[in-house]
Amino acid sequence: MSTVKPWPPRDDLCEGNGFGTRAIHAGQPAEPVTGAVMVPIYQTSTFVQEGVGGHKGYEYARTGNPTRTALETCLASLEGARHGVCFSSGCAATSTVLHSLSPGDHVVSSDDVYGGTWRIFETVFRPLGIEFTYVDLCDLDAAQAALRPGQTRLLWIETPTNPLLKVIDIAQMAELAHSVGARALVDNTFATPYFQSPLALGADAVLHSTTKYLGGHSDVVGGAVITNEDEFAAEMFRLQNSIGATPGPQDCFLTLRGIKTLHVRMDRHQRSAMALARFLSEHEDVERVIYPGLESHPQHEVAARQMHGFGGMLSFELRADLARAERFVSSTQVMTLAESLGGVESLIELPAAMTHASVPPDVRQAIGIADGLVRLSVGLEDEQDLREDLEQAFARSRQP
Ligand SMILES: Cc1ncc(COP(=O)(O)O)c(C=O)c1O
Repeated sequence: MSTVKPWPPRDDLCEGNGFGTRAIHAGQPAEPVTGAVMVPIYQTSTFVQEGVGGHKGYEYARTGNPTRTALETCLASLEGARHGVCFSSGCAATSTVLHSLSPGDHVVSSDDVYGGTWRIFETVFRPLGIEFTYVDLCDLDAAQAALRPGQTRLLWIETPTNPLLKVIDIAQMAELAHSVGARALVDNTFATPYFQSPLALGADAVLHSTTKYLGGHSDVVGGAVITNEDEFAAEMFRLQNSIGATPGPQDCFLTLRGIKTLHVRMDRHQRSAMALARFLSEHEDVERVIYPGLESHPQHEVAARQMHGFGGMLSFELRADLARAERFVSSTQVMTLAESLGGVESLIELPAAMTHASVPPDVRQAIGIADGLVRLSVGLEDEQDLREDLEQAFARSRQP
């Protein structure tokens, strides 16, 4: 085995520094050969060996790549963890976590998880013998009743949820999971590590679709699992290499570059989201606005306690049928009608017809995803332009 210390070092977590400093520097010391300030894109599938086993910490790019290591270390640092494991998408991260379970194991999940997560649970892993129960995790008694001691291995907590922005008490749910020997995993995609620190609240693992706020520019798809548990991390690295849903170095570079401005972007996303939430709350065409920062949000108190900010996502229900709702989201001119979220540009969509179309209509109805529910990822455009754009879309959608 080589005695050369691999670069970048996995322990370069920049501990003790503030969030912005870690976002910019963790896992990203200057490259030692040329002094490049930015982590290079190591576009290679394999690495030379000076003798059998005589490598510099990297053998084959599915197993490890320095650009990926830099991203994994940076993400670990931002979540206050020791280990980050990156994947080719958020769904690949989810699937890899589920592969750590065995037939007969049971998972309790938030009832309005991202539609793609629901699809993985129901169409990929249920047929393989994993059991799932969906429950409103804001309801402690219901969550408790759903647990099966000795069988429940995982509590899947998406908070805030997508698209209903329910806020789940992470500390309470982690305690509940641990009481039956299960792990508590938090999908932290919406809040990002800047606004929410699940591991500090007792969760065992965090999952991200880095496609969203972390990448931040709608130009890359990726995912990650982050944990402080050595054993779970080792299992994730084993499955990452064995299943092989790994991100390429160019994607890791783009995600790292996006992360450098995460804190600055999130502050602005939040400021505009709060302003638009207040504007929509007073609009005659709007039935209700769902934004954790509004005092009217049912879990506003939990959000204020466990989050450092309320984020840039908001949902609102139009006083409209599906046809008018479709006209409304098709009428915006600054906001883009598209799935996904977390980019610099504002994205608007209709969950019932788009992101959550894979969830059957009766299930959607039961959990409260109405046909007129609009989800808005508030971007970084000027707030006045966003407000005027909504105003003109309301006016245009009134005309049949
Ligand atoms: C909360 C959440 N988790 C996971 C995912 C899946 O991530 P990806 O699209 O990167 O596979 C998404 C995608 O929208 C999401 O919103």
